[in-house]
Amino acid sequence: MKGVILAGGLATRLRPLTLVTNKHLLPVYHKPMIYYPLEAMVKAGIKEILLTSSPHHAGDFANLLKSGEDFGVRLYYAIQQNPTGGIADGIALAREFAKDEKTLVILGDNIFSFNLKRIVDKFQDKKRGAVIFGTEMDTTSGQYGVVEIGKDGKVLSIEEKPKNPKSEIAQTGIYMYDERVFEFIKKMKPSDRGQLEVTDLNNFYLKEGTLECETIDWWIDAGTSPNELLRAGNMVCEKVKEGEL
Ligand code: G1P
Repeated sequence: MKGVILAGGLATRLRPLTLVTNKHLLPVYHKPMIYYPLEAMVKAGIKEILLTSSPHHAGDFANLLKSGEDFGVRLYYAIQQNPTGGIADGIALAREFAKDEKTLVILGDNIFSFNLKRIVDKFQDKKRGAVIFGTEMDTTSGQYGVVEIGKDGKVLSIEEKPKNPKSEIAQTGIYMYDERVFEFIKKMKPSDRGQLEVTDLNNFYLKEGTLECETIDWWIDAGTSPNELLRAGNMVCEKVKEGEL
């Protein structure tokens, strides 16, 4: 299974912090933000990882993370030409890299300590489908995709940033896809905000009945606002003290 970490985007919500520096290089407590999704991949047993970023910042990531050897993995780099192309546009860059293999995707600003290994291993044995990860939180801010789950644990719907959320389960930026993901992306059209939305991608799997949702305990999208960036730093500090990170 291959890994893809998305570290593009303009990060306008964190300006002026991100006018010069890529969001994913900002500190979250004692490490650059990008370390967290990378270390989550390492813990999950992923050995080959593609990091996608903008033309301006790709060199910064190479300077910081180099070949990946220090983390025990092999890193590859890809350039996302259009920084606002969307998550599915970023995933599409892995077409050659991940062809004929399943993919674990993590957004570069996602901070969590949940160990994905068990679920990754289970997914490797599956023939086809996708897995998304949800977490219980306040979904009324309109910042997240929202996942509605039935009594039997099946996903009923996923909506992108709804005004009236159907549940308190936010869609995190952790996804697993089978080999067909690139075919689905080819069929996609940009949303109203001009992006290839990950929610539209996940809905392809939902419609064919092969989408599963796993829930994780705590999770922070540190790119949402300066407050969430600060909260992520404080949370990591606490978890480091507890020995969880
Ligand atoms: C994206 C997804 C959204 C998800 C979020 C998690 O939003 O579109 O469904 O809940 O990541 O971080 P974005 O941060 O790109 O607006």
